[in-house]
Amino acid sequence: MKVTVVGAGAVGASCAEYIAIKNFASEVVLVDIKENFAEGKAMDLMQTASLNGFDTKIIGSTNDYLKTKGSDIAIITSGIPRKPGMTREELIGINAGIVKTVSENLIKHSRDVILIIVSNPMDTMTYLTHKVTGLSKNRIIGMGGALDSARFKYRLAEALECPISDVDGMVIGGHSDKGMLPLTRLASRNSVKASKFITEERLNQVLEATKVGGATLTGMLGTSAWYAPGAAVSSLVHSIACDQKKMYPCSVMLDGEYGLSDLCIGVPVILGRNGVEKIVELDLNTAEMQKLNESAEGVKKTNGLLE
Ligand code: LAC
Repeated sequence: MKVTVVGAGAVGASCAEYIAIKNFASEVVLVDIKENFAEGKAMDLMQTASLNGFDTKIIGSTNDYLKTKGSDIAIITSGIPRKPGMTREELIGINAGIVKTVSENLIKHSRDVILIIVSNPMDTMTYLTHKVTGLSKNRIIGMGGALDSARFKYRLAEALECPISDVDGMVIGGHSDKGMLPLTRLASRNSVKASKFITEERLNQVLEATKVGGATLTGMLGTSAWYAPGAAVSSLVHSIACDQKKMYPCSVMLDGEYGLSDLCIGVPVILGRNGVEKIVELDLNTAEMQKLNESAEGVKKTNGLLE
C-alpha cells in the first residue's frame, strides 16, 4: 500500500505521521514544492520509526511526481491555510490553481489512485478535482465531516461531562462555518439521546461551538489546525487501505442522493478498498433537510466561483 501526501506543511506532515504510526502502509511519499522541505520532514519522521515502532517507509520529494508512481491513495493538502478571521471560501483563488495542477500531476503517474482532498474550500476543491481528473465518483473523497464530527464529539463529551469514547455524533453538510450541520437530534451517549442528559440550550451551544471549531483554532494558533485534520485523514486512509468499511461523513459527488446533484458535500459514506463503497441516506427531518439544502446552496455558490 503506497500513499502519497502532497503538501508537507503542518497538515500534510501530520497525515504522514499518523498513517505511519498506524503501520498499515508500506510506503508514504511526502511531496512539497519547497526545495528539500518534504525530504527533511520525511527524514525527521523516519527517525521516529524505531521509537514509535512502525515499519512504514517515508520518503520526501521536491515536486518530483515520478516518486509518487503507483500510489494507491493520494492526499492533497497543498495550498494556503486560513489566517485568523478568514473563511475557507476566501482561499479559493489561490488554492484552485494549486489543486488543479497537483491532481493532474498525481493521475499522470497513478491512474487508479483514490484521492482524498483536504485543501480548502474543501467541498469545492473536491468538485474541481472531479472536473480535472475525470476519475470515477468512488475515487474522490473530500475530508471534512470526519474532522467536524471529531470536533462535535469533543464538544458533546465536554457538555455531557463524560469520556469521548462514550459519545457518538455526526456532522454532515458543507465543511464551512455556516454550512456544516451537526446532527444534534441523533447525538447520543451509549445509545441514549444526548438530549436526555443536557438541555436544548446546551445542545445548541455544542452545535455552535462545533460549527466554528476550525475558526476557533485558527484564532488561537494563527493558522489552521493540523493534529485533528491529520488524524481524520489517517482514519479515512486506514478504512480504505484495510478495507474496514467504516462509515464517515465525507464530501462526495452526489447524483440524486438527498435530492441533490452535481456537487460534493458531506454525507455519510462507507469507505473500503474501492474508496466510496456506498453513500448512506439518513432519514433527516424537515428542518435538517432544509439546513442541508441551504448548505448545498452555499457550496454551489462557491463552486460557481471556479469559472
Ligand atoms: C479545519 C481545516 C482543515 O477545519 O479546514 O481545521
